[in-house]
Amino acid sequence: MSAPAQAYRASILHFLSDPGSGDDPHATEFFEDGLLVVLDGRVLAVGPAADLLATLPPGAQVMDCRPGLVMPGFIDTHIHYPQTDVIASFGTQLLDWLERYTFPAERQFADAVHARAVCEFFLDELLRNGTTTALVFGTVHKQSVDTFFEAAEARGLRMVAGKVLMDRHCPEDLRDTPEAGVRESAQLIERWHGHARLGYAITPRFAITSSDEQLRLAGELARAHPSVHVHTHVAENLDEVAWARRLFPWSRSYLDVYDRFGLLRERTVLAHCIHLDEGDRRRMGEAGAAAAFCPTSNLFLGSGFFDIEAADRARIRIGLATDVGGGTSFGMLRTLADAYKVAQMRGQSLGATRAFYLATLGGARALGLEREIGNFSPGKEADFVVLDLACTPLLARRTALARTLSERLFALMTLGDDRCVRATYIEGRAAMCASARTAARPSLSFGAIDPVSRT
Ligand code: GUN
Ligand code: ZN
Repeated sequence: MSAPAQAYRASILHFLSDPGSGDDPHATEFFEDGLLVVLDGRVLAVGPAADLLATLPPGAQVMDCRPGLVMPGFIDTHIHYPQTDVIASFGTQLLDWLERYTFPAERQFADAVHARAVCEFFLDELLRNGTTTALVFGTVHKQSVDTFFEAAEARGLRMVAGKVLMDRHCPEDLRDTPEAGVRESAQLIERWHGHARLGYAITPRFAITSSDEQLRLAGELARAHPSVHVHTHVAENLDEVAWARRLFPWSRSYLDVYDRFGLLRERTVLAHCIHLDEGDRRRMGEAGAAAAFCPTSNLFLGSGFFDIEAADRARIRIGLATDVGGGTSFGMLRTLADAYKVAQMRGQSLGATRAFYLATLGGARALGLEREIGNFSPGKEADFVVLDLACTPLLARRTALARTLSERLFALMTLGDDRCVRATYIEGRAAMCASARTAARPSLSFGAIDPVSRT
């Protein structure tokens, strides 16, 4: 016997396709007074409350989330859970930042107790910010990923993660070997990939920290497992690009190193993609690889400005990403605010509709998970957020003045942060309620949202 259907009444926004730079209105579905109906953790229907209320199955419970805005859960296409405590580290750019802050922090993940504690904090923080799926770096330690998947599974989350492959140009005690790295990755694939809502990503840190042999074996593993993701960094920082060119003089470009080793394909996600040329972009588009745009990180580490228009021209799938701990927020709203500013620095403009598409369905497409998540098409997994557009006096004032949906959304992405996230639902269960300001797990609790029985 399945549980009764649940219905959530609120303003509801989701995307059917990419609104593009012209903010195509046909790509967006918005119901000012809408109803999202969930059965057994999946979307049963979405539409105007006036139409759907009368069609609810017997026993359905209606939660009144008005005046909230319900949206699909945010998707973070690149983040490092072991860098939770690295966030807001002062004064360096990428290569020094790795040496000074990141490697010492990652060393601590040899300790399973530490890894477990950080995992729990990390997942709480994602949920507090409305993020329901992420593509996640572990450390070089295999058990950092076992621990992460155990914690994600206990919460019923859809997550993709992988063990870092790294056999040179890093501290001795953070190195694996080509054989051990690939053997442990294969063991993790066997144990976790496709289990519950989890997926595996083959995760060479970046070309600089992997030998040719390690990249070759990673490419072989990727070929043997086409449904597994490949997750790495490329062309983030100019010193990094110059170093990669010195290490691989035979390659046409830094991106070409991954291509030559068979690591550029569908389900490859490359973080940053700032200092690419047109040939690189064309190859990414052809190969079906996705770019994770990490604006808060790119500003914080002084890396450069992602070129959205060039990526669009090359038909590269774009996802948004926090890149914590290079990034400065776990939240997609703060990330969208900086994405807009990065676009401005390129003389480009990121409209609010496109921005929220990228944070939801666009992220799902970048990860190749659009059949499972990303919008409220019937049958998809019911991961969603309830947002409060009046959570601060300034946001309340500014959204009250907005004349159109896109003006409201633009105020939300420019001024909003975790305070806007009233609740986060995973497969139709409340996983975080703002009234408690903690993750609610594992019991069902609606916090500030009053369940109202249908009469
Ligand atoms: N490039 C290689 N490793 C990293 C990392 O941990 N963070 C970022 N932002 N870039 C990287
Ligand atoms: Zn990163």
